[in-house]
Amino acid sequence: MPLLSVDELKVTFAGHGRRATTAVSGVSFDVDEGQVVGLVGESGCGKSVTSLALMGLLPAKGVRVEGRADYRGTDLLSLSPSRLRDLRGTQLAMIFQDPLSSLNPVVPIGVQVTEILSRHRGLRGQAARDEAATLLDRVGIPDPRRRLKEYPHQLSGGMRQRALIAMAVACAPRLLIADEPTTALDVTIQAQILELLKELVDQQGTALLMITHDLGVVAGLCDEVNVLYAGKVVESADRRTLFAEPAHPYAHGLLNSIPRLDAPRGQPLNPVRGSINDQIAWADGCAFAPRCDFYTLDCLQGTPELGPLNADAVAGHQVRCVNPVREPLAVTTLAEVGAGGDPPAEAAAPKGAPKTAPKAAPKEETSE
Ligand SMILES: Nc1ncnc2c1ncn2[C@@H]1O[C@H](COP(=O)(O)OP(=O)(O)OP(=O)(O)O)[C@@H](O)[C@H]1O
Ligand code: SF4
Ligand SMILES: [Mg+2]
Repeated sequence: MPLLSVDELKVTFAGHGRRATTAVSGVSFDVDEGQVVGLVGESGCGKSVTSLALMGLLPAKGVRVEGRADYRGTDLLSLSPSRLRDLRGTQLAMIFQDPLSSLNPVVPIGVQVTEILSRHRGLRGQAARDEAATLLDRVGIPDPRRRLKEYPHQLSGGMRQRALIAMAVACAPRLLIADEPTTALDVTIQAQILELLKELVDQQGTALLMITHDLGVVAGLCDEVNVLYAGKVVESADRRTLFAEPAHPYAHGLLNSIPRLDAPRGQPLNPVRGSINDQIAWADGCAFAPRCDFYTLDCLQGTPELGPLNADAVAGHQVRCVNPVREPLAVTTLAEVGAGGDPPAEAAAPKGAPKTAPKAAPKEETSE
């Protein structure tokens, strides 16, 4: 049985006079003990809202959360706030995307870390301070004893992020949700933090839900990957399958957009065209249709279902698309994004755009 099983999670924000926004629209995935599961997608696709819903950290008013999130047999979405508070810090922990607003600005870092150690591990006084210094040291904060006495505004953005990571790993949680934990960090610290997270997973069996838009992080860390678009999972697969044979045009485009250092000078980059604002409501068809090079009129016959690519599909490889891509990737391989793997795939044939794609819905409309 998975440690966490999310089933049809849906989060809707009230519109306050305008139409409501469905930020997460029926997301399902599992996380096993000791497994790293990635949630990947561009800005605004619902990654943070998914994690906040699982941790019970969305505002109590103006938000409707539906679905189930079974954690060891208990539905997190229907737990009382006090029971959830007990679980957070002991069994569930989260590294937030925005470190400044997640730390208390008027309390020194040391007090914030030792508070956790005292509440959840019973450490007091010098023992708690020593452990706090060790934790800051582990996440690469230089001169940790001095830093313990400082306030969040006295630390750099990267140090604040590392302090948050130290707080999240302090109690060796069973499930850690990391929301873009390395985005604000330079590459050497980033590597150190990823190593630390790997260590937690390998040595303590922590399950890690890794939220990121960095495909290098996904390739280096994740076992399973869920690609989100406009609040829905559009492709899910084990990492190797996703990088070798992405079948959803959006996932395919994301991997194709990774720049190559060995590309000939002047070769243009290959971005996914348009932006996440160019979407139609899922109820009217595939939300990705306005940006899709593979669009046909079939794409507008209601919401495409998430299902296996075909009868020979790798177990667990699911795609939400009526015309999945069957071409090899033009440029991307696991090796190129840092995870090792097969030699480069052959260049893909040029893609055709069979019909003019539909126009995007107005921005303020709900995605469902
Ligand atoms: N409190 C809120 N009230 C109304 N809408 C919200 C609220 N929080 C998030 N949203 C909307 O939900 C959608 C998903 O937001 P979310 O923060 O989950 O994006 P994300 O995938 O984490 O993006 P990023 O990569 O930029 O962090 C966005 O359209 C956002 O505007
Ligand atoms: S081919 Fe159709 S269903 Fe598939 S991603 Fe493109 S628009 Fe969506
Ligand atoms: Mg976010």
